[in-house]
Amino acid sequence: MKVLVLGSGGREHALAKKLAESRRVSRVFVCPGNAGIPETAGSGKIQRKGLFNSFSMSPPFAELTTWAKAEDIKLVVIGPEDYLSLGMADAFRQAGIPVFGHSQAATQLESSKLFAKKLMKKIGIPTAKYKEINSFEEGMKCIGEFSYSYGYPLVLKADGLCAGKGVILAHTPSEAEAALQVYYKEKRFGKAGQTVLVEEFLEGREVSVMALTDGTCLKLLPASEDHKRLLDDDRGPNTGGMGVYTPVAFLSDEDLVHLEKNVLMPVISEMQKMGLTLCGLLYAGFMKTSGGYKVLEFNVRFGDPETQCVLPLFEEDLFECMLLATRGELASLALKPNLAKENSSSLAAVTVVLASQGYPLNPITNRVILGVENVQDSEVFHAATGLNKEAKFVSSGGRVLSLTAKGANLQEARERVYADVKKIQFEGMQYRSDIALKGIET
Ligand code: AMP
Ligand code: GLY
Repeated sequence: MKVLVLGSGGREHALAKKLAESRRVSRVFVCPGNAGIPETAGSGKIQRKGLFNSFSMSPPFAELTTWAKAEDIKLVVIGPEDYLSLGMADAFRQAGIPVFGHSQAATQLESSKLFAKKLMKKIGIPTAKYKEINSFEEGMKCIGEFSYSYGYPLVLKADGLCAGKGVILAHTPSEAEAALQVYYKEKRFGKAGQTVLVEEFLEGREVSVMALTDGTCLKLLPASEDHKRLLDDDRGPNTGGMGVYTPVAFLSDEDLVHLEKNVLMPVISEMQKMGLTLCGLLYAGFMKTSGGYKVLEFNVRFGDPETQCVLPLFEEDLFECMLLATRGELASLALKPNLAKENSSSLAAVTVVLASQGYPLNPITNRVILGVENVQDSEVFHAATGLNKEAKFVSSGGRVLSLTAKGANLQEARERVYADVKKIQFEGMQYRSDIALKGIET
């Protein structure tokens, strides 16, 4: 059977690889994909479908759905939130093709932080205190009041989708004012930043929990810890994510059961009551604070780079799992949260992202990437890569590659991945050298 994966990042590369492992899958098309797709090694089933222009990736997606029907695609998997937010899943469903991805309406859970906050308030899910603002002046008043109650730092967040870059941490009144300038004067995030949430700062450890859902049932994937800040020791600006590890020791099995029962299940039930039934991936970002777990955000798609870390340990048939979700039959699937088999030699995984100079604000691109062929123990996932005239890989955006190594424990996985990271070079390449250290220390 043929599968279509939509998107072009490392996450989609990881999804395509895992789907291609299914014996029932004959071909995985990735659209628009990147230069690392098709694969010359591996299953040989993955093919890039990059021929569409950007117009065909915009509503009503007619060219794409017509092509998918003619190609007899049996499952569509949508990677990025902006495609979901444009109604891509709805278009495929209307065309009668099973799709693992939420409707445009249900995507509000991620595409509006205000929507998510209101939902959490309604059903009593712990999250950071917040206030909504809609102008610079309102913001100035709010930061004065808010900092009086909660002190600094404060968190400012664009309501809409900003590829993980719409959050600004302000340590002082002048930083908070500068942040407001970014949203309201510079208008860096356009419409997505016209409504802003001012939030209390939560201190603690972050953990990403992803689950497959058909709207009534959830199947958890192993939890992971992302490293959002650009630089070692959690310094520098927020990014889409610079590296991940799994398993997360501080999150006990009991914690996970608690979060599933008291956060994820109530969310999917409430969404269903609102007529916004989910079908796809639900991702909750938590902060473990001294006052318990609090939700930072919900995403309605696989995390990037969480997916590149978690899927290599996934020993089930992802194609079957997703197909069951599209049919509302996930309950029939027996899946333990800890997917790595106890007798497996790979119980841990570490992913390191290689990013361009200037990322996240102004990545410098078109740098030749050397050494990918020398990687030994890691899986390489391509993201912003292209090919130059000499058919050499070049960087074409912010996050360029991610590498994942597995191991019997985090220490082993970490050593393996960094040994391979050192074999890759491109001018200005940035990566964090402390991914998973936190996990080893706790
Ligand atoms: P979000 O898009 O809401 O998940 O925010 C992106 C990142 O900003 C999170 O993963 C955290 O690292 C950080 N962040 C967001 N909200 C808060 C908060 N209230 N307190 C502390 N850090 C936060
Ligand atoms: N790595 C965080 C995210 O995908 O939102």
